[in-house]
Amino acid sequence: MRPITGAAELLQFPVPEPEERPVLVVDFGGQYSQLIARRVREARVYSEIVSHRSTVAEIRRRNPVALILSGGPASVYSDGAPKLDAGIFELGIPTLGICYGAQLLALELGGRVDKTGAGEYGKVDVHTADGAALFASQPVEQTAWMSHRDTVVEPPAGARIVATSEHTPVAAFEDGARKRYGVQFHPEVVHTPQGQEILKNFLYEVAGAAPVWTPAAVIEEQVERIRAQVGNERVLCALSGGVDSAVAALLVHKAVGDQLTCVFVDHGLLRKGEAAQVVETFDGLYHVPLVHVQAQERFVGRLAGVTDPEQKRKIIGEEFIRVFEEKARSLGDVKWLVQGTLYSDVIESGGTDGVAETIKSHHNVGGLPADMKMKLVEPLRLLFKDEVRRVGEELGMSERMVWRQPFPGPGLAIRIIGDVTEERLETLREADSILQEEVRRAGLYRELWQSFCVLPAIRSVGVQGDSRTYGYPIAIRAVTSEDAMTADWARLPYDLIELVSSRIINEIPAVNRVVLDVTSKPPATIEWE
Ligand code: XMP
Repeated sequence: MRPITGAAELLQFPVPEPEERPVLVVDFGGQYSQLIARRVREARVYSEIVSHRSTVAEIRRRNPVALILSGGPASVYSDGAPKLDAGIFELGIPTLGICYGAQLLALELGGRVDKTGAGEYGKVDVHTADGAALFASQPVEQTAWMSHRDTVVEPPAGARIVATSEHTPVAAFEDGARKRYGVQFHPEVVHTPQGQEILKNFLYEVAGAAPVWTPAAVIEEQVERIRAQVGNERVLCALSGGVDSAVAALLVHKAVGDQLTCVFVDHGLLRKGEAAQVVETFDGLYHVPLVHVQAQERFVGRLAGVTDPEQKRKIIGEEFIRVFEEKARSLGDVKWLVQGTLYSDVIESGGTDGVAETIKSHHNVGGLPADMKMKLVEPLRLLFKDEVRRVGEELGMSERMVWRQPFPGPGLAIRIIGDVTEERLETLREADSILQEEVRRAGLYRELWQSFCVLPAIRSVGVQGDSRTYGYPIAIRAVTSEDAMTADWARLPYDLIELVSSRIINEIPAVNRVVLDVTSKPPATIEWE
């Protein structure tokens, strides 16, 4: 809580922070629960995911401005189908059920759900009723995305039907008096063009939620929170060059200034210019106390002769911890460590105890020592990745840093197949920098999940000028993806590929051939090692 400022201050009336009146998305295991929470936040209303096992007391304690019951894979009639503590429906909280959530509302509150045998999948035409709160200011005829087997055939007692489709007699219902709403379709997916407007109607008009969850508000809240948490103790943050650790560090710096020290372990495996960018940004631009550890030789030394990818990862991870610990010790008594944990990590590690088949984050970046006995500051714990980026923009970070594509912790070492040497690093770094430059110039950088070069452990014969060469090939890897679990190879324009290829060959004497990786994931992984 923070007191109202200005004229009303005299009243000492506590105004809840956006986080203190969240919209709670109750997770029934649907693949879209996270998406619902993100869409709510896009409407600038703070939202969190909670388990369907939450009790009445737990829900009441959170004092939510609204509940959204997610979809889910089960049938409301199957054994062990996830339910909600019935008392929660009686709390008078505005509630929107989506798909399974809508069916559950109907089943529990006097309506009827049938296995009609006529499920609907994909885009469906929906006819909406006059004066329906969810569809206010929207076209009467709409397209909506359906994915269900069971169907609500009678809305909950006291509710009226406000949308129908060919096979779904109750595509939406509303009970304005008790503020209970249900939609059989998925307003959260892009295939429901009015979906975001429907959610906004529910949030603003039905639940009376205010659109106050903005990057500026996030920063203000986090700054207060960090100050309260760390007091006047010192804080340490490891910078990786990535957007998460950068935003986390800047938030902490804004909160506690020079109580923060950042440690940037330069392992020499970053891309061309990236280490300099970290130093310029933190030291030059933001004047954050920065320890730049030049550990390139140590890492390359330890990698000498190592060709097994997992061995490389292990060595780099261990060495990172060693270097970081040495530095941390030399800084004296530091109580706090910043960690860039994101909300999606919190959910994925079972935070909501849902039945969702959780998607595990593939690798944990920059694992820090478990036994450092420092207390954790996690300023991004409530944020999704796109929100981290918006906060970064609000803090004035460069476009380049904010929108940096994901980059693996072990860096170029796992993009050099076989032995990692200074010479091979140099070759790959130069080729990769040409690819980055041209991808950016073509305006494709943000569209691609990742784009990079790989240096395979083979040599190839070429003919350059009048002589034959025996040089290195370079592979170009560019993929589109949502979450790195699956990926498609990017259809880069031929002109771009040609330009990159000829620049690499002309500008890097050691390279005499460029190839393009045209494999999706699965069966291939994104990285080559
Ligand atoms: P793969 O190659 O498994 O990669 O399709 C999926 C995502 O994870 C990244 N990746 C890593 N990140 N340490 C990391 O921090 C690693 O060892 C590592 N290996 C792969 C990869 O870049 C992609 O985004």
